[in-house]
Amino acid sequence: MANTDPATLQSDTIARIEAADSLDALEAIRVDSLGKKGSVSLAMRSLGQLEGDARREAGQQLNAIKESITTALEARKSTLAEAALNEKLASETVDISLAPRPEAEGRIHPLSRTLEEVTAIFAEMGFTVAEGPDIESDYYNFTALNIPPEHPARQEHDTFYLTPDAEGRRKVLRTHTSPVQIRTMEKIKPPIRIIAPGRTYRSDHDATHSPMFHQCEGLVIGKDIHMGHLKGCLIDFCRAFFGVDDLPVRFRPSYFPFTEPSAEVDIGCSREGGGLKIGAGDDWLEILGSGMVNPRVLQHCGIDPDEYQGFAFGMGLERIAMLKYGIPDLRPFYDSDLRWMRHYGFVPFDPPSIHLGLGA
Ligand code: PHE
Repeated sequence: MANTDPATLQSDTIARIEAADSLDALEAIRVDSLGKKGSVSLAMRSLGQLEGDARREAGQQLNAIKESITTALEARKSTLAEAALNEKLASETVDISLAPRPEAEGRIHPLSRTLEEVTAIFAEMGFTVAEGPDIESDYYNFTALNIPPEHPARQEHDTFYLTPDAEGRRKVLRTHTSPVQIRTMEKIKPPIRIIAPGRTYRSDHDATHSPMFHQCEGLVIGKDIHMGHLKGCLIDFCRAFFGVDDLPVRFRPSYFPFTEPSAEVDIGCSREGGGLKIGAGDDWLEILGSGMVNPRVLQHCGIDPDEYQGFAFGMGLERIAMLKYGIPDLRPFYDSDLRWMRHYGFVPFDPPSIHLGLGA
């Protein structure tokens, strides 16, 4: 625009800016006025022909014009950009009728779920979780638990032995979680209230035994802990775990070298019609071993049996999972077969079934 009157130059340009109906049109106006060969730039260049005050005055005026054009360009640009966005939003729609692609959804393994449930129940009773190594010394797995070298209980455990060291000492894959009792009592002073879930190993393999399986140990030590506490704790646990409030629980005298007296815990069930029903009928099902900690075990750990006593228990996690969830065979637990996982596994974020129980 070859307009030499600055005021007209300004009002014309701003009018064109305000009328611009696209970002492209606006850009053309910018090049036309502020570009290298634009009207404002040309007017600036022609200042050289003026002298003194007139030149200064005209210069200031042109700078002000340049600024007002720049401001108008920016304002129009954001208005146009917003309008373009609104138009796009109004015209574009998401087709929600399209079916979503199937998502590969994982499952929680029944054993993980069982461990979560057991831990939650005992946590509510004030137990904390303790751990020990899978590879144990003979001392922790047997001797400290009152199972001396020639004791017949050693044969019953079908122990896996590791290669002996230079002094002929053989480590073992722990045959139960009971060594964690010893490790805990060596480490912390009573009162003690722990559970110790973990892997255990025995050379045994059939539909209900696997060379690697899981147990959960429990240990409570205090000054006044007695058999009544053992019974109350385990009855509460069985009823909470199986979700049957009046589940019959029976304590049957038994023997473990590390507890005296010892009791195996059975729950009431019915086997009528070939199916197993927990909490009904007049049959019994063994689910865990327990007893009052043998004073010799306390002595091995430097705890005075005249001052302290307590109880311990141990249960097979696969076994209670199979009973609760009606899983007939143990072997597929470790097969990683997705069909099995889809059938017996749990959908993540489902509420834990301790609140639903078997009745749900
Ligand atoms: N360790 C025993 C077993 O594996 C179970 C048990 C633990 C029994 C604690 C009594 C006390 O069979």
